[in-house]
Amino acid sequence: MAKLAPSILSADFSELALEVQRIEKGGADYIHVDVMDGHFVPNISYGATVMKSLSGKTKLPFDVHLMIEDPDKYIPEFVTDNTLYITVHQEAVHHLHRTLMYIKSLGVKAGVSINPSTPLSQLEEILPYVDLVLIMSVNPGFGGQKLISECLDTIYRLKEITDENDYPFLIEMDGGVTLGNLKQVIKAGADIVVAGSSIFHTEDREKTTKEFVKIIK
Ligand code: DX5
Ligand code: ZN
Repeated sequence: MAKLAPSILSADFSELALEVQRIEKGGADYIHVDVMDGHFVPNISYGATVMKSLSGKTKLPFDVHLMIEDPDKYIPEFVTDNTLYITVHQEAVHHLHRTLMYIKSLGVKAGVSINPSTPLSQLEEILPYVDLVLIMSVNPGFGGQKLISECLDTIYRLKEITDENDYPFLIEMDGGVTLGNLKQVIKAGADIVVAGSSIFHTEDREKTTKEFVKIIK
């Protein structure tokens, strides 16, 4: 059964705690936390301070997606009681194994992400060490983009590798997921689905979350 991780990137920040409570009531599994630095991606979102303000306001675990250069410098700031996963980008890290081991040493599950243009083969050596692989299905930086359909094939191929090797990591898809393409994303093999604008840009976030959950489960 797949899990739902709404991205608060598209939430109304003036009432962030309420936004999170709406998706929690709707049955979301995680809160997807998109951190952007204006270097690795051409946009700045928010940092650990904003994320920490939600700690204690929700029981949902944080699924932290760091779209930042030199993440080792900032990783400890994102460790809270709610933090379940911290994911870094393969393209942003020089010593991926070291970074993933560092995340694990802080008591958090370690994830790695690749952009749509990065070949899956770039992850081959690291797969035995990861808890989560996040496949970007848009070029990271902005919510509300259209899913690049070739990324569904990436998920499908990754799922085959996982099954062949009995790897324990989960596969996450992030970017452009809507109620319209959700079934395809699940069918391709995603264990966790991120959805930002297609939840937070609707009138009733709780109801939309429930609609996602109904399809996923
Ligand atoms: C993109 C982020 C995604 C994105 C998802 O850079 O990593 O999490 O905000 O938003 P939607 O679902 O609107 O594509
Ligand atoms: Zn993300």
